[in-house]
Amino acid sequence: MSIHNLAAVILAAGKGTRMCSSLPKVLHPLAGRPLCAHVLELTRQLGCEQTVMVVGHQADAVREHCSDEQVVFVTQQQQLGTGHAVQCAAGALRDFNGTVLILCADVPLLRSATIRALLDEHRRSTAVVTVLSAKVPEPHGYGRIVRGDDGGVERIVEEKDASAEEKQIDEINTGIYALEAPQALELLARLDNSNAQQEYYLTDIIALARQACQRVSACVLADSSESMGINDRVQLAAAAAIMRRRINEQHMLAGVTIVDPDATYIDADVTIGVDSVIQPGVHLRGGCTIGNHCIVETGAVIDGGTIGDYSYIKAGSALEQASVGEHCTIGPMAHLRPGTVLCGHNKIGNYVETKKAHIGVNSQASHLTYIGDAELGRDVNIGCGTITCNYDGINKHKTTIGNGVFVGSDTQFVAPVTIGSNSLIAAGSTITKDVPADSLAIARTPQTVIPGWRKKQSGKKS
Ligand code: UD1
Ligand code: MG
Repeated sequence: MSIHNLAAVILAAGKGTRMCSSLPKVLHPLAGRPLCAHVLELTRQLGCEQTVMVVGHQADAVREHCSDEQVVFVTQQQQLGTGHAVQCAAGALRDFNGTVLILCADVPLLRSATIRALLDEHRRSTAVVTVLSAKVPEPHGYGRIVRGDDGGVERIVEEKDASAEEKQIDEINTGIYALEAPQALELLARLDNSNAQQEYYLTDIIALARQACQRVSACVLADSSESMGINDRVQLAAAAAIMRRRINEQHMLAGVTIVDPDATYIDADVTIGVDSVIQPGVHLRGGCTIGNHCIVETGAVIDGGTIGDYSYIKAGSALEQASVGEHCTIGPMAHLRPGTVLCGHNKIGNYVETKKAHIGVNSQASHLTYIGDAELGRDVNIGCGTITCNYDGINKHKTTIGNGVFVGSDTQFVAPVTIGSNSLIAAGSTITKDVPADSLAIARTPQTVIPGWRKKQSGKKS
Protein backbone atom coordinates (compact mmCIF):
# COMPACT_ATOMS: atom_id res chain seq x y z
CA MET A 1 0.00 0.00 0.00
CA SER A 2 1.56 3.32 -0.93
CA ILE A 3 0.94 6.49 1.02
CA HIS A 4 -0.23 9.54 -0.87
CA ASN A 5 2.10 12.56 -1.04
CA LEU A 6 5.09 11.05 0.66
CA ALA A 7 8.72 11.96 0.00
CA ALA A 8 11.90 10.94 1.81
CA VAL A 9 15.23 12.54 2.59
CA ILE A 10 18.02 10.11 3.45
CA LEU A 11 20.98 11.60 5.30
CA ALA A 12 24.19 9.95 4.12
CA ALA A 13 26.84 12.68 4.06
CA GLY A 14 28.62 11.86 7.31
CA LYS A 15 32.11 10.41 7.35
CA GLY A 16 31.58 7.42 9.60
CA THR A 17 34.93 7.99 11.31
CA ARG A 18 34.37 5.22 13.85
CA MET A 19 34.20 2.52 11.18
CA CYS A 20 37.99 3.06 10.68
CA SER A 21 37.50 2.16 7.02
CA SER A 22 38.40 3.30 3.53
CA LEU A 23 34.87 2.31 2.50
CA PRO A 24 32.16 4.92 3.23
CA LYS A 25 30.11 3.78 6.22
CA VAL A 26 26.82 3.64 4.32
CA LEU A 27 28.32 1.18 1.80
CA HIS A 28 29.30 -1.40 4.41
CA PRO A 29 27.24 -4.54 3.77
CA LEU A 30 24.54 -5.87 6.05
CA ALA A 31 22.88 -9.14 4.99
CA GLY A 32 24.47 -8.75 1.55
CA ARG A 33 23.30 -5.19 0.84
CA PRO A 34 24.94 -1.83 1.59
CA LEU A 35 23.48 -0.14 4.67
CA CYS A 36 21.96 2.63 2.54
CA ALA A 37 20.23 0.07 0.28
CA HIS A 38 18.17 -1.14 3.27
CA VAL A 39 16.89 2.40 3.78
CA LEU A 40 16.19 2.81 0.05
CA GLU A 41 14.24 -0.46 0.15
CA LEU A 42 12.16 0.99 3.00
CA THR A 43 11.30 4.08 0.90
CA ARG A 44 10.23 1.75 -1.92
CA GLN A 45 8.04 -0.32 0.40
CA LEU A 46 6.38 2.89 1.59
CA GLY A 47 5.83 4.05 -1.99
CA CYS A 48 7.67 7.38 -1.62
CA GLU A 49 7.10 9.53 -4.70
CA GLN A 50 10.45 11.20 -4.36
CA THR A 51 13.62 10.19 -2.52
CA VAL A 52 16.46 12.64 -2.02
CA MET A 53 19.78 11.33 -0.72
CA VAL A 54 22.20 13.80 0.83
CA VAL A 55 25.77 12.70 0.10
CA GLY A 56 29.07 14.31 1.04
CA HIS A 57 31.89 12.10 2.24
CA GLN A 58 33.01 9.95 -0.74
CA ALA A 59 29.92 11.17 -2.55
CA ASP A 60 30.93 9.58 -5.86
CA ALA A 61 31.29 6.10 -4.40
CA VAL A 62 27.89 6.36 -2.71
CA ARG A 63 26.21 7.65 -5.89
CA GLU A 64 27.78 4.88 -7.95
CA HIS A 65 26.52 2.13 -5.67
CA CYS A 66 23.01 3.54 -5.57
CA SER A 67 22.91 4.58 -9.23
CA ASP A 68 20.27 2.05 -10.25
CA GLU A 69 17.94 3.33 -7.59
CA GLN A 70 15.16 5.86 -8.15
CA VAL A 71 16.87 8.54 -6.15
CA VAL A 72 17.92 12.18 -6.55
CA PHE A 73 21.31 13.01 -5.05
CA VAL A 74 22.26 16.32 -3.52
CA THR A 75 25.73 17.07 -2.27
CA GLN A 76 26.43 18.62 1.10
CA GLN A 77 29.95 19.95 0.56
CA GLN A 78 30.69 20.54 4.24
CA GLN A 79 29.04 18.56 6.99
CA LEU A 80 27.68 21.43 9.05
CA GLY A 81 25.05 19.36 10.85
CA THR A 82 21.86 17.39 10.32
CA GLY A 83 19.76 20.57 9.94
CA HIS A 84 22.10 21.87 7.26
CA ALA A 85 21.92 18.49 5.49
CA VAL A 86 18.12 18.71 5.26
CA GLN A 87 18.44 22.32 4.06
CA CYS A 88 20.60 21.02 1.21
CA ALA A 89 17.82 18.57 0.27
CA ALA A 90 15.04 21.16 0.53
CA GLY A 91 15.84 22.63 -2.90
CA ALA A 92 15.02 19.31 -4.56
CA LEU A 93 11.65 19.31 -2.75
CA ARG A 94 10.77 22.90 -3.69
CA ASP A 95 7.54 21.91 -5.45
CA PHE A 96 6.56 19.13 -3.09
CA ASN A 97 3.43 19.40 -0.99
CA GLY A 98 2.96 16.64 1.56
CA THR A 99 4.88 14.70 4.18
CA VAL A 100 8.67 14.39 4.05
CA LEU A 101 10.23 11.52 5.97
CA ILE A 102 13.71 12.15 7.32
CA LEU A 103 15.70 8.92 7.43
CA CYS A 104 19.35 8.14 8.11
CA ALA A 105 21.33 5.88 5.81
CA ASP A 106 23.03 4.29 8.81
CA VAL A 107 19.78 3.20 10.51
CA PRO A 108 19.00 0.02 8.55
CA LEU A 109 16.64 -1.96 10.81
CA LEU A 110 13.49 0.19 10.65
CA ARG A 111 10.41 -1.66 9.45
CA SER A 112 7.81 -0.11 7.18
CA ALA A 113 5.09 -0.80 9.81
CA THR A 114 6.97 1.43 12.24
CA ILE A 115 7.13 4.29 9.75
CA ARG A 116 3.42 3.83 9.02
CA ALA A 117 2.77 4.22 12.78
CA LEU A 118 4.84 7.44 12.74
CA LEU A 119 2.86 8.72 9.74
CA ASP A 120 -0.46 7.77 11.39
CA GLU A 121 0.49 9.79 14.48
CA HIS A 122 1.65 12.67 12.27
CA ARG A 123 -1.70 12.78 10.45
CA ARG A 124 -3.81 12.17 13.56
CA SER A 125 -2.18 15.04 15.44
CA THR A 126 -2.05 17.27 12.32
CA ALA A 127 1.47 18.17 13.40
CA VAL A 128 4.00 20.00 11.28
CA VAL A 129 6.81 17.97 12.81
CA THR A 130 6.50 14.48 14.35
CA VAL A 131 9.59 12.82 15.76
CA LEU A 132 10.07 9.08 16.21
CA SER A 133 11.30 8.61 19.78
CA ALA A 134 12.29 5.54 21.77
CA LYS A 135 12.58 4.59 25.43
CA VAL A 136 15.96 3.02 26.01
CA PRO A 137 17.79 1.78 29.11
CA GLU A 138 21.05 3.44 27.96
CA PRO A 139 20.20 6.91 26.59
CA HIS A 140 23.81 8.11 26.68
CA GLY A 141 24.94 9.79 23.44
CA TYR A 142 21.46 10.43 22.03
CA GLY A 143 19.41 13.60 21.91
CA ARG A 144 16.73 13.58 24.65
CA ILE A 145 13.04 14.39 24.21
CA VAL A 146 12.07 17.15 26.64
CA ARG A 147 8.33 17.11 27.41
CA GLY A 148 6.33 19.85 29.12
CA ASP A 149 3.93 19.51 32.08
CA ASP A 150 1.10 18.61 29.70
CA GLY A 151 3.18 15.71 28.35
CA GLY A 152 3.65 17.40 24.96
CA VAL A 153 7.05 17.54 23.26
CA GLU A 154 8.79 20.88 23.86
CA ARG A 155 12.22 20.44 22.36
CA ILE A 156 15.11 18.03 21.85
CA VAL A 157 18.38 18.54 23.67
CA GLU A 158 21.62 16.96 22.47
CA GLU A 159 23.74 15.00 24.96
CA LYS A 160 26.52 17.59 24.72
CA ASP A 161 24.15 20.47 25.47
CA ALA A 162 22.07 18.70 28.14
CA SER A 163 21.93 19.58 31.84
CA ALA A 164 22.51 16.84 34.44
CA GLU A 165 18.75 16.66 34.92
CA GLU A 166 18.03 16.37 31.17
CA LYS A 167 20.57 13.55 30.91
CA GLN A 168 18.30 11.52 33.21
CA ILE A 169 15.58 11.46 30.49
CA ASP A 170 15.31 7.98 28.97
CA GLU A 171 13.21 8.97 25.92
CA ILE A 172 15.61 9.57 23.04
CA ASN A 173 15.45 11.03 19.55
CA THR A 174 15.89 8.28 16.94
CA GLY A 175 16.76 10.92 14.31
CA ILE A 176 13.72 9.90 12.22
CA TYR A 177 10.97 12.46 11.60
CA ALA A 178 7.89 13.25 9.54
CA LEU A 179 7.87 16.87 8.36
CA GLU A 180 5.04 18.69 6.64
CA ALA A 181 6.17 20.45 3.47
CA PRO A 182 6.44 23.26 2.75
CA GLN A 183 5.78 24.68 6.28
CA ALA A 184 8.39 22.60 8.16
CA LEU A 185 11.08 23.08 5.52
CA GLU A 186 10.59 26.86 5.77
CA LEU A 187 11.50 26.66 9.47
CA LEU A 188 14.97 25.36 8.54
CA ALA A 189 16.02 28.87 7.50
CA ARG A 190 15.82 29.89 11.17
CA LEU A 191 18.28 27.29 12.48
CA ASP A 192 21.50 28.56 14.01
CA ASN A 193 24.64 26.83 15.26
CA SER A 194 24.98 28.36 18.72
CA ASN A 195 25.44 25.05 20.51
CA ALA A 196 28.20 22.84 21.92
CA GLN A 197 29.08 21.35 18.53
CA GLN A 198 28.58 24.54 16.50
CA GLU A 199 26.38 22.58 14.12
CA TYR A 200 23.01 23.31 12.55
CA TYR A 201 20.90 20.80 14.46
CA LEU A 202 17.78 19.41 12.79
CA THR A 203 16.53 18.69 16.31
CA ASP A 204 16.01 22.45 16.88
CA ILE A 205 13.12 22.32 14.40
CA ILE A 206 10.84 21.16 17.25
CA ALA A 207 11.42 24.28 19.36
CA LEU A 208 11.20 26.49 16.24
CA ALA A 209 7.85 24.98 15.27
CA ARG A 210 6.48 25.61 18.74
CA GLN A 211 7.72 29.21 18.66
CA ALA A 212 5.82 29.61 15.38
CA CYS A 213 2.72 28.20 17.13
CA GLN A 214 2.76 25.07 14.98
CA ARG A 215 1.90 21.66 16.26
CA VAL A 216 4.59 19.08 17.07
CA SER A 217 4.19 15.48 18.13
CA ALA A 218 6.13 12.32 18.96
CA CYS A 219 5.54 8.67 18.21
CA VAL A 220 7.25 6.26 20.61
CA LEU A 221 8.89 3.30 18.94
CA ALA A 222 7.59 -0.07 20.17
CA ASP A 223 10.85 -2.01 19.62
CA SER A 224 13.79 0.30 20.31
CA SER A 225 16.29 -2.01 18.57
CA GLU A 226 14.81 -0.90 15.22
CA SER A 227 16.27 2.58 15.58
CA MET A 228 19.79 1.31 16.15
CA GLY A 229 22.31 3.43 14.25
CA ILE A 230 25.54 1.96 12.93
CA ASN A 231 28.60 3.94 13.98
CA ASP A 232 31.24 1.22 14.38
CA ARG A 233 31.80 -2.41 13.46
CA VAL A 234 30.59 -3.68 16.83
CA GLN A 235 27.19 -2.13 16.10
CA LEU A 236 27.37 -3.44 12.52
CA ALA A 237 27.73 -7.00 13.84
CA ALA A 238 24.93 -6.48 16.36
CA ALA A 239 22.61 -5.16 13.63
CA ALA A 240 23.59 -8.08 11.37
CA ALA A 241 22.55 -10.51 14.12
CA ILE A 242 19.14 -8.82 14.43
CA MET A 243 18.69 -8.79 10.65
CA ARG A 244 19.76 -12.44 10.43
CA ARG A 245 17.15 -13.45 12.99
CA ARG A 246 14.44 -11.59 11.04
CA ILE A 247 15.38 -13.12 7.70
CA ASN A 248 15.67 -16.62 9.14
CA GLU A 249 12.34 -16.31 10.94
CA GLN A 250 10.63 -15.35 7.69
CA HIS A 251 12.00 -18.46 5.99
CA MET A 252 11.08 -20.71 8.92
CA LEU A 253 7.53 -19.37 9.03
CA ALA A 254 7.29 -20.01 5.29
CA GLY A 255 8.21 -23.69 5.68
CA VAL A 256 12.02 -23.91 5.68
CA THR A 257 13.81 -25.86 8.44
CA ILE A 258 16.78 -23.89 9.77
CA VAL A 259 18.53 -26.10 12.31
CA ASP A 260 20.39 -23.28 14.11
CA PRO A 261 19.14 -19.82 13.07
CA ASP A 262 21.91 -17.99 14.95
CA ALA A 263 24.56 -19.75 12.87
CA THR A 264 22.94 -19.60 9.43
CA TYR A 265 23.81 -16.66 7.18
CA ILE A 266 21.15 -15.90 4.59
CA ASP A 267 21.24 -12.63 2.64
CA ALA A 268 18.19 -10.42 2.30
CA ASP A 269 17.34 -11.39 -1.29
CA VAL A 270 17.54 -15.20 -1.15
CA THR A 271 14.59 -17.48 -1.98
CA ILE A 272 14.13 -20.94 -0.40
CA GLY A 273 11.34 -23.42 -1.15
CA VAL A 274 9.25 -25.34 1.37
CA ASP A 275 10.57 -28.38 3.25
CA SER A 276 14.16 -27.52 2.52
CA VAL A 277 16.62 -28.01 5.39
CA ILE A 278 19.48 -25.60 6.00
CA GLN A 279 22.15 -26.83 8.41
CA PRO A 280 24.37 -24.60 10.60
CA GLY A 281 27.28 -22.69 9.09
CA VAL A 282 25.66 -22.33 5.67
CA HIS A 283 26.00 -19.05 3.74
CA LEU A 284 23.36 -18.27 1.11
CA ARG A 285 24.24 -15.11 -0.82
CA GLY A 286 23.89 -13.12 -3.99
CA GLY A 287 20.17 -13.65 -4.49
CA CYS A 288 20.44 -17.41 -4.92
CA THR A 289 17.28 -19.49 -5.24
CA ILE A 290 16.95 -22.86 -3.46
CA GLY A 291 14.07 -25.10 -4.50
CA ASN A 292 11.69 -27.25 -2.45
CA HIS A 293 12.82 -30.31 -0.47
CA CYS A 294 16.52 -29.48 -0.73
CA ILE A 295 19.15 -30.20 1.91
CA VAL A 296 22.08 -27.81 2.33
CA GLU A 297 24.69 -29.21 4.67
CA THR A 298 27.10 -27.53 7.06
CA GLY A 299 29.67 -25.18 5.59
CA ALA A 300 28.17 -24.91 2.12
CA VAL A 301 28.49 -21.45 0.50
CA ILE A 302 26.02 -20.75 -2.31
CA ASP A 303 26.55 -17.41 -4.03
CA GLY A 304 23.95 -16.68 -6.68
CA GLY A 305 22.46 -19.25 -9.07
CA THR A 306 19.63 -21.72 -8.58
CA ILE A 307 19.20 -25.15 -6.98
CA GLY A 308 16.37 -27.34 -8.26
CA ASP A 309 13.90 -29.27 -6.10
CA TYR A 310 15.11 -32.33 -4.18
CA SER A 311 18.77 -31.48 -4.60
CA TYR A 312 21.30 -32.21 -1.90
CA ILE A 313 24.28 -29.91 -1.35
CA LYS A 314 26.73 -31.73 0.90
CA ALA A 315 29.12 -30.27 3.46
CA GLY A 316 31.74 -27.72 2.48
CA SER A 317 30.69 -27.22 -1.14
CA ALA A 318 31.10 -23.83 -2.82
CA LEU A 319 28.71 -22.86 -5.63
CA GLU A 320 29.07 -19.61 -7.58
CA GLN A 321 26.26 -18.68 -9.96
CA ALA A 322 25.72 -22.33 -10.78
CA SER A 323 22.46 -23.63 -12.19
CA VAL A 324 21.74 -26.96 -10.53
CA GLY A 325 18.71 -28.94 -11.72
CA GLU A 326 16.40 -31.21 -9.76
CA HIS A 327 17.52 -34.31 -7.84
CA CYS A 328 21.23 -33.48 -7.94
CA THR A 329 23.81 -34.43 -5.31
CA ILE A 330 26.76 -32.09 -4.93
CA GLY A 331 29.87 -32.64 -2.79
CA PRO A 332 31.02 -32.89 -0.12
CA MET A 333 33.72 -30.34 -0.98
CA ALA A 334 32.69 -29.72 -4.58
CA HIS A 335 33.36 -26.41 -6.32
CA LEU A 336 30.82 -25.32 -8.94
CA ARG A 337 32.02 -22.16 -10.65
CA PRO A 338 30.15 -19.70 -12.92
CA GLY A 339 28.72 -21.16 -16.09
CA THR A 340 28.04 -24.55 -14.55
CA VAL A 341 24.69 -25.97 -15.69
CA LEU A 342 23.55 -29.33 -14.33
CA CYS A 343 20.44 -30.48 -16.17
CA GLY A 344 19.12 -32.74 -13.39
CA HIS A 345 19.73 -36.09 -11.64
CA ASN A 346 23.47 -35.38 -11.63
CA LYS A 347 26.08 -36.40 -9.11
CA ILE A 348 29.07 -34.14 -8.66
CA GLY A 349 31.18 -35.70 -5.92
CA ASN A 350 34.02 -34.75 -3.64
CA TYR A 351 36.87 -32.60 -4.94
CA VAL A 352 35.21 -32.07 -8.29
CA GLU A 353 35.49 -28.60 -9.85
CA THR A 354 33.33 -27.46 -12.74
CA LYS A 355 33.43 -24.21 -14.74
CA LYS A 356 31.49 -23.26 -17.91
CA ALA A 357 30.31 -26.84 -18.00
CA HIS A 358 26.96 -27.91 -19.41
CA ILE A 359 26.21 -31.36 -18.05
CA GLY A 360 23.27 -33.40 -19.37
CA VAL A 361 20.65 -35.30 -17.40
CA ASN A 362 21.85 -38.24 -15.31
CA SER A 363 25.57 -37.66 -15.94
CA GLN A 364 28.03 -37.87 -13.10
CA ALA A 365 31.57 -37.12 -11.96
CA SER A 366 31.92 -38.65 -8.53
CA HIS A 367 35.49 -37.93 -7.48
CA LEU A 368 38.58 -35.71 -7.97
CA THR A 369 37.85 -34.20 -11.36
CA TYR A 370 38.08 -30.92 -13.28
CA ILE A 371 35.47 -30.19 -15.94
CA GLY A 372 35.97 -26.78 -17.55
CA ASP A 373 34.77 -25.35 -20.89
CA ALA A 374 32.93 -28.58 -21.56
CA GLU A 375 29.66 -29.89 -22.88
CA LEU A 376 28.59 -33.32 -21.67
CA GLY A 377 25.52 -35.16 -22.94
CA ARG A 378 23.27 -37.31 -20.81
CA ASP A 379 24.19 -40.56 -19.01
CA VAL A 380 27.90 -39.78 -19.09
CA ASN A 381 30.11 -41.34 -16.42
CA ILE A 382 33.33 -39.49 -15.68
CA GLY A 383 35.85 -41.63 -13.77
CA CYS A 384 37.92 -40.52 -10.81
CA GLY A 385 40.77 -38.11 -11.57
CA THR A 386 39.59 -37.00 -15.01
CA ILE A 387 40.79 -33.63 -16.27
CA THR A 388 39.67 -31.49 -19.19
CA CYS A 389 42.92 -29.78 -20.21
CA ASN A 390 41.17 -26.66 -21.44
CA TYR A 391 44.01 -24.14 -21.34
CA ASP A 392 47.12 -24.15 -23.53
CA GLY A 393 48.65 -21.16 -21.79
CA ILE A 394 47.07 -18.67 -24.21
CA ASN A 395 43.57 -19.79 -25.13
CA LYS A 396 40.78 -21.86 -23.64
CA HIS A 397 39.41 -24.80 -25.65
CA LYS A 398 36.29 -26.89 -25.46
CA THR A 399 35.76 -30.57 -24.68
CA THR A 400 32.57 -32.14 -26.04
CA ILE A 401 31.45 -35.53 -24.76
CA GLY A 402 28.40 -37.26 -26.29
CA ASN A 403 25.56 -39.13 -24.61
CA GLY A 404 26.33 -42.37 -22.81
CA VAL A 405 30.13 -42.05 -22.85
CA PHE A 406 32.02 -43.95 -20.16
CA VAL A 407 35.30 -42.31 -19.16
CA GLY A 408 37.77 -44.49 -17.23
CA SER A 409 39.70 -43.08 -14.28
CA ASP A 410 42.70 -40.78 -14.69
CA THR A 411 41.85 -39.60 -18.18
CA GLN A 412 42.99 -36.30 -19.64
CA PHE A 413 41.10 -34.70 -22.51
CA VAL A 414 43.46 -32.31 -24.32
CA ALA A 415 40.99 -29.79 -25.73
CA PRO A 416 39.72 -29.04 -28.28
CA VAL A 417 38.45 -32.59 -28.53
CA THR A 418 35.13 -34.33 -29.21
CA ILE A 419 34.06 -37.79 -28.04
CA GLY A 420 31.20 -39.41 -29.94
CA SER A 421 28.28 -40.89 -28.05
CA ASN A 422 28.45 -44.27 -26.30
CA SER A 423 32.25 -44.53 -26.60
CA LEU A 424 34.48 -45.89 -23.88
CA ILE A 425 37.72 -44.19 -22.86
CA ALA A 426 40.15 -46.58 -21.19
CA ALA A 427 41.53 -45.60 -17.80
CA GLY A 428 44.78 -43.63 -17.82
CA SER A 429 44.31 -42.30 -21.36
CA THR A 430 45.52 -38.94 -22.62
CA ILE A 431 43.04 -38.17 -25.38
CA THR A 432 44.35 -35.71 -27.96
CA LYS A 433 42.27 -36.72 -31.00
CA ASP A 434 38.52 -36.92 -31.59
CA VAL A 435 36.90 -40.29 -30.92
CA PRO A 436 33.97 -41.42 -33.11
CA ALA A 437 30.75 -42.79 -31.61
CA ASP A 438 30.58 -46.34 -30.19
CA SER A 439 34.42 -46.72 -30.08
CA LEU A 440 36.99 -47.77 -27.52
CA ALA A 441 39.89 -45.34 -27.16
CA ILE A 442 43.06 -46.31 -25.32
CA ALA A 443 45.94 -43.84 -25.19
CA ARG A 444 48.48 -45.14 -22.69
CA THR A 445 51.82 -46.90 -22.75
CA PRO A 446 51.33 -50.69 -22.90
CA GLN A 447 52.34 -52.41 -19.70
CA THR A 448 55.71 -54.20 -19.59
CA VAL A 449 56.32 -57.09 -17.17
CA ILE A 450 59.85 -58.44 -16.55
CA PRO A 451 59.58 -61.71 -14.61
CA GLY A 452 62.08 -62.23 -11.75
CA TRP A 453 63.42 -58.66 -11.96
CA ARG A 454 63.12 -57.96 -8.25
CA LYS A 455 64.89 -61.13 -7.25
CA LYS A 456 67.84 -60.36 -9.54
CA GLN A 457 68.06 -56.87 -8.02
CA SER A 458 68.28 -58.18 -4.46
CA GLY A 459 70.89 -60.75 -5.55
CA LYS A 460 73.15 -57.91 -6.79
CA LYS A 461 72.88 -56.04 -3.48
CA SER A 462 74.24 -58.94 -1.28
C1 UD1 B 1 21.53 12.73 15.75
C2 UD1 B 1 20.56 13.64 16.48
C3 UD1 B 1 20.28 13.05 17.86
C4 UD1 B 1 19.77 11.65 17.73
C5 UD1 B 1 20.73 10.78 16.91
C6 UD1 B 1 20.10 9.44 16.61
C7 UD1 B 1 21.01 15.88 15.66
C8 UD1 B 1 21.61 17.19 16.00
N1 UD1 B 1 21.11 14.94 16.60
O1 UD1 B 1 22.77 12.78 16.46
O2 UD1 B 1 19.32 13.84 18.52
O3 UD1 B 1 19.59 11.08 19.03
O4 UD1 B 1 21.02 11.41 15.65
O5 UD1 B 1 21.01 8.57 16.00
O6 UD1 B 1 20.41 15.73 14.64
N2 UD1 B 1 24.67 13.85 8.52
C9 UD1 B 1 24.77 14.50 7.33
N3 UD1 B 1 25.33 15.73 7.31
C10 UD1 B 1 25.79 16.35 8.42
C11 UD1 B 1 25.67 15.67 9.66
C12 UD1 B 1 25.11 14.41 9.67
O7 UD1 B 1 24.36 13.99 6.28
O8 UD1 B 1 26.27 17.48 8.31
C13 UD1 B 1 24.05 12.51 8.53
C14 UD1 B 1 24.98 11.42 9.00
O9 UD1 B 1 25.65 10.82 7.90
C15 UD1 B 1 24.02 10.44 9.66
C16 UD1 B 1 22.90 11.34 10.19
O10 UD1 B 1 23.00 12.54 9.48
O11 UD1 B 1 23.46 9.54 8.71
C17 UD1 B 1 22.99 11.60 11.69
O12 UD1 B 1 24.20 12.29 11.97
P1 UD1 B 1 25.09 11.98 13.23
O13 UD1 B 1 26.29 12.81 13.18
O14 UD1 B 1 25.25 10.53 13.41
O15 UD1 B 1 24.15 12.58 14.40
P2 UD1 B 1 24.17 12.20 15.91
O16 UD1 B 1 25.23 12.97 16.59
O17 UD1 B 1 24.21 10.73 16.06
MG1 MG C 1 24.73 9.06 14.77
